[in-house]
Amino acid sequence: LKHLYIDIYIYIPCGLLLLLVCSNQHSSTGSTGMSVAKTTVDKLLKGYDIRLRPDFGGPPVIVGMSINIASIDSISEVNMDYTITMYFQQSWRDKRLAYGELNLNLTLDNRVADQLWLPDTYFLNDKKSFLHGVTVKNRMIRLHPDGTVLYGLRITTTAACMMDLRRYPLDEQNCTLEIESYGYTTDDIVFFWQGGDDAVTGVDKLELPQFSIVDIRLVSREVRFTTGSYPRLSLSFRIKRNIGYFILQTYMPSILITILSWVSFWINYDASAARVALGVTTVLTMTTINTHLRETLPKIPYVKAIDVYLMGCFVFVFLALLEYAFVNYVFFGRGPAQQKKINERLNKANNERTRYEEKRLREQKLHSISSLHFALHSLTLGVFSLCSQVDAYGNILLTTLEMNNEVMPSDVGSSVSDSRNSVMSFDSSGVQFRKPMAPRDGFSHHSLDRSAMRSRANCRLRRRSSKLKLKIPNLSDVSTIDKWSRVIFPITFGFFNLIYWLYYVN
Ligand SMILES: *[C@@H]1O[C@H](CO)[C@@H](O)[C@H](O)[C@H]1NC(C)=O
Ligand SMILES: *[C@@H]1O[C@H](CO)[C@@H](O)[C@H](O)[C@H]1NC(C)=O
Ligand SMILES: *[C@@H]1O[C@H](CO)[C@@H](O)[C@H](O)[C@H]1NC(C)=O
Repeated sequence: LKHLYIDIYIYIPCGLLLLLVCSNQHSSTGSTGMSVAKTTVDKLLKGYDIRLRPDFGGPPVIVGMSINIASIDSISEVNMDYTITMYFQQSWRDKRLAYGELNLNLTLDNRVADQLWLPDTYFLNDKKSFLHGVTVKNRMIRLHPDGTVLYGLRITTTAACMMDLRRYPLDEQNCTLEIESYGYTTDDIVFFWQGGDDAVTGVDKLELPQFSIVDIRLVSREVRFTTGSYPRLSLSFRIKRNIGYFILQTYMPSILITILSWVSFWINYDASAARVALGVTTVLTMTTINTHLRETLPKIPYVKAIDVYLMGCFVFVFLALLEYAFVNYVFFGRGPAQQKKINERLNKANNERTRYEEKRLREQKLHSISSLHFALHSLTLGVFSLCSQVDAYGNILLTTLEMNNEVMPSDVGSSVSDSRNSVMSFDSSGVQFRKPMAPRDGFSHHSLDRSAMRSRANCRLRRRSSKLKLKIPNLSDVSTIDKWSRVIFPITFGFFNLIYWLYYVN
């Protein structure tokens, strides 16, 4: 028990004393450290000549650089540049700043940087850069006992990056950041990437909305100018555009609009309002897509990959509209017009016939006229047969001839009922509009002459058109055009897509 008291009375005060002494000693080393640092810095800066580089007159200063990329804020095709925020660090050895007595790294206030020599580094391809200044200038200066200076800055720079947009938006770009010394040549200063390939960090953490970084390369070289050769470091990164946005915003809508334009082929050809509206709407929508796209791009003279695609879609949509114009022309343009002409002629013929019938009743005995009539008519027939030999619609014309042959003898035989029958049979035949001359032939000499001339003109016209029509299967059948379009358009579009993607994706 006595031993215990001794322990308590002796060791505890002793321990307390020791503690006091220790803490006292500690605080004294703190204050002495500070005063030592103060005197060190004073000593370093006293007589320091900021105008002269380290090792002036001796070997070049070797400046190591490293970059930590904080973010790549934007990559602009319109301005052909990109904006990057980074921690840019340079370190070099300045023997004038070596301090042996204190084994501490001294991180000084950033204002000290104004009193020290710094490398005159600049970015060759920057358009606008700034050092962040909130809350104080974002720069750091740290001295090491051997005189090594570490100088760090937080910079945002917008650097030019000339882009080749020929394959846009399936392109890859190579953007660089060129770092060079402004005034000192390689005799005075040498740059190198500190840490080799690890000099640039933070790349894997980067998040770019439209791009992904494929590759990063660091190059160190010398460039020659008239004023000497300068050290240059370049950081280049290859960025690949993410196609997803364009698939959603441009390719899919274009494909769907193109497909929509084919709906027209499934709509009945006499629904002009529906088909024209569909065609025009799709054409205009393609134009709108094109316009929207152009706003985000510079005015470059060459054709981009997306232009090729949009132009392709535009052509398809446009052709779909033209297809309807063609169908419309073939069916509504030629058909009804001729139908109307035929109706007029038939009416005229009927009028003439009634007049003729009256005349006939009066002049039943004048057979000589009929025989002359027959002679003239055979002349007409000759013209017709000439025509029929050449014409592509030979079969139809031949039926005309046959009918004329049928009509004429009865006509010559001056049988009224027969001639009426022939007109009737003519009416019921499905090919009236092919032979508009026939019914009138039999009624007057003048009309015969005229019809002979007309038939000759017609013959010439038909011969000319037959050359065209021979190539296209059966244009009078409108639905055939639509049927073919339904197959040809999708197949051609598929083929176009295949070639496009094979060419541009590789
Ligand atoms: C000073 O900095 C150097 C290099 O950054 C480091 O290796 C060293 O450990 C630091 N010294 C002290 C005392 O912190
Ligand atoms: C970018 O282009 C430069 C110059 O052509 C080249 O030296 C560099 O290697 C390229 N960068 C990448 C990442 O391919
Ligand atoms: C051409 O089309 C018309 C009208 O549909 C039809 O009557 C005729 O038989 C067709 N001709 C051929 C050669 O297919």
